[in-house]
Amino acid sequence: MNAYDVDVQEAGPQALASSLMESGALQSNWLPAYEAVPRHLFVPDVIWPGRAGMNRQDDRVIRSDEPDDWWAAVYRDAPITTQWDDGAYTGPGKGRMPTCSNSMPTMVFSMLNALSVDTGQRVLEIGTGTGWNAALLCQRLGSENVMTVEVDEANARDARERIRGAGFHPKCIVGDGAEGYPPGAPYDRVIATCSIGSVPLTWIEQTRPGGVIVAPWGPTYGGEAVARLTVADGGTASGPFIGSSAFMRLRQQRKSLPPKSAYLTGAGGTRSRTALSPDDVGDWLHMFVIGLQVPALFCRVESGADGAYRLWLYDTEVTSWAVADYEKGRIEYDVAQYGPRNLWDELETAWRWWDGRGRPGFDRFGLTVTPDGETAWLDSPDSPVPVTER
Ligand SMILES: C[S@@+](CC[C@H](N)C(=O)[O-])C[C@H]1O[C@@H](n2cnc3c(N)ncnc32)[C@H](O)[C@@H]1O
Repeated sequence: MNAYDVDVQEAGPQALASSLMESGALQSNWLPAYEAVPRHLFVPDVIWPGRAGMNRQDDRVIRSDEPDDWWAAVYRDAPITTQWDDGAYTGPGKGRMPTCSNSMPTMVFSMLNALSVDTGQRVLEIGTGTGWNAALLCQRLGSENVMTVEVDEANARDARERIRGAGFHPKCIVGDGAEGYPPGAPYDRVIATCSIGSVPLTWIEQTRPGGVIVAPWGPTYGGEAVARLTVADGGTASGPFIGSSAFMRLRQQRKSLPPKSAYLTGAGGTRSRTALSPDDVGDWLHMFVIGLQVPALFCRVESGADGAYRLWLYDTEVTSWAVADYEKGRIEYDVAQYGPRNLWDELETAWRWWDGRGRPGFDRFGLTVTPDGETAWLDSPDSPVPVTER
């Protein structure tokens, strides 16, 4: 162990706590749990450190080879990827898709705040992952009040060992969290630490009226935000989004999108020009508001020379596609649309709806879930976000 290693081990937890408290993510009611359940006990020896606010991972770090880098990653406010491709990729570099992580501390404590737990409440967590969040909940509420479900057997086994090693004994279940965990119901709180494209009704059914569900939710097009839903009678739940997020998808809801080759290139179609730059519709919030309004849309980007690119739009039902070409310095952009739907027009209408309302952020949107479906809204449940007719 060298000097730097010792410094980070000793100073890291306190320095991270101070910065989380300063930002307001860690509040005093969660500080005892933060101190009693140190993050390093839940980070595996082999990791791919992430970057705060970015969907990017550094190269693999092995604790025994690079202890300084390992400790620095643990006490940085950033997510840490701990598994790729459901465990199929373990090499250096990166796999295709990150499938487990120890989440960014700011996100962990913001979601725990949003859960607003109280002594004696029963909580169901979906996505045990490394076990840190479950252990934090155990420290706050008592192990007997915490159930946590993990779909991946290896993750579940390792997490259970870490949680037990830290002195807690919640109910650890291996299974599909979309089914909840009926034997432990009713819950006062449900927290998902993997994202969803639709809220499983089982979570609502297993939560008592007045209870709260906190879950990252994102439409097919992209963008994602944490929803805080309050459960009402009749299998319904409603509440606001509290801020953007970027979690791994619940395994059973992973997006499986058709390949480009599934779309007929076909003759015909329409050509036009637009003043709306493809570059102005591509950030996380834009994707979210477009995805709310055009639910069956997805996109791919094809890079060209000198920063130019082509934005491809497809509908998931494989009827229509469109392209919009971006080039630096232009004030109008070429668009081509094929099939019964004019996908660029739909996207542009959605963007202009959002622009016309003063460009609201994630936290002005909300979601209502009933047994008949989901409705996104702006500012209040009686102002539904318009959805493109198909
Ligand atoms: C971001 S990690 C969870 C972080 C975790 N709470 C922690 O404290 O480390 C997401 C986890 O959700 C799990 N997951 C994905 N689909 C799931 C499902 N259907 N049921 C339960 N867990 C699932 C993944 O295997 C992964 O371990």
